[in-house]
Amino acid sequence: MHPTDPITSTAETSPHGAADPAIPGSAALPNRAYTSYDDWLKERDTVIAQTWAGLGFSSDIAEPGSVYPVMFMGLPLVMVRDQHNRARVFHNVCRHRGMQLVAEAGDAGLVIRCPYHKWGYDLSGQLKTTPNIGGMGIHEVAGFNCADHALTGVRCDESMGVVFINLSGDSPALSEYLEPLLSRWRDLAGPSFDQQLIADTGEHGSMELVLNSNYKLAVENYCESYHLPFVHPDLNTYSPLDAHYNLTLDPLASGQGTRVYDLTRGDSEPLPQFAEWDSERLKTAEYLSLYPNVLLGIQADHFFVILLMSEAVNQTRERLQFLYADTAAIDEIYRARRENLHTAWCIVFAEDISVVEGMQRGRASPAFDGGLFTPLMDVPTHHFHQWFLSRLKQNTTRAVS
Ligand code: FES
Ligand SMILES: [Fe+2]
Repeated sequence: MHPTDPITSTAETSPHGAADPAIPGSAALPNRAYTSYDDWLKERDTVIAQTWAGLGFSSDIAEPGSVYPVMFMGLPLVMVRDQHNRARVFHNVCRHRGMQLVAEAGDAGLVIRCPYHKWGYDLSGQLKTTPNIGGMGIHEVAGFNCADHALTGVRCDESMGVVFINLSGDSPALSEYLEPLLSRWRDLAGPSFDQQLIADTGEHGSMELVLNSNYKLAVENYCESYHLPFVHPDLNTYSPLDAHYNLTLDPLASGQGTRVYDLTRGDSEPLPQFAEWDSERLKTAEYLSLYPNVLLGIQADHFFVILLMSEAVNQTRERLQFLYADTAAIDEIYRARRENLHTAWCIVFAEDISVVEGMQRGRASPAFDGGLFTPLMDVPTHHFHQWFLSRLKQNTTRAVS
């Protein structure tokens, strides 16, 4: 713990502090957790189904009528913004003959219409129209009740610009699940920071890349700052490893923080900051892997989210979005600053590709099956593995009980 830092959470540890004696020798995920298609599906239906996972951005479905299809670990889903401005998620499959309902993001208007026989569902998923079901020009038939054939919904909720899903439907409410993280960052960035985030949907507001690796390796790489001097030599000049601290946030997240984030770096107009950010900690920035698949970064003048979309056991799409403390940040006068941030972070995340993909290639080796957690530098990564293994065990037990 930094002696002057008012954060008193026991979650914060220094990489230069005492070693955790419990770590060496403790269990890590085996290779097959990164390479086996069967394990990938099992993981979806056990570990991930029982928690809240990131599915998309709130801005993907910005307006009532917006639809956005997502393949989530092999499951065809669709996000929808309904007429009451509420996010909804459905299994993206027509109740008639199983046609994929929505193939492309866009505006469905008031009706989501199946491309095959044109059945129409309203934005709450209710089946409303069945053209020609009783013969040409006859749109009803005896014994068929539309009310019995609504789309199958998936529990969802929004926070920090992300649409989260809970496939099992029985996790605690999202706000309750996120409480340890939100309360920590409300102390830092103000009590309503998460309500005021403004997504930048402009040209410098997002980034996307595809990794030839299992998504968990991207989580693990994001957890630790150990690789900073070697993989991010430029970043290390202005945010060096020795200014970082480890973070573990039970039970849902881990990562790292720095005390030297430089808000004035570069000569462009500084961005508006979170109005209620703790003035004693303006240079604090924190980077947390919110399990299982959301990477978050918070600084006094910007916020970002990376969604790790697991497209195959060995392929992950990273979707990044920047969010700001105020709508004013999207103004033209801050364009250069937003562009600089975008460029700098794109370089950092591109630098991580080779190590994340290299770890994936390493998972083909019978000479490695879990590896080591060092007692100082790998504390946050170890925390992620413990979370994963404990949930796998819980859910496996639940499945057979
Ligand atoms: S499969 Fe959708 S209307 Fe027939
Ligand atoms: Fe990195």
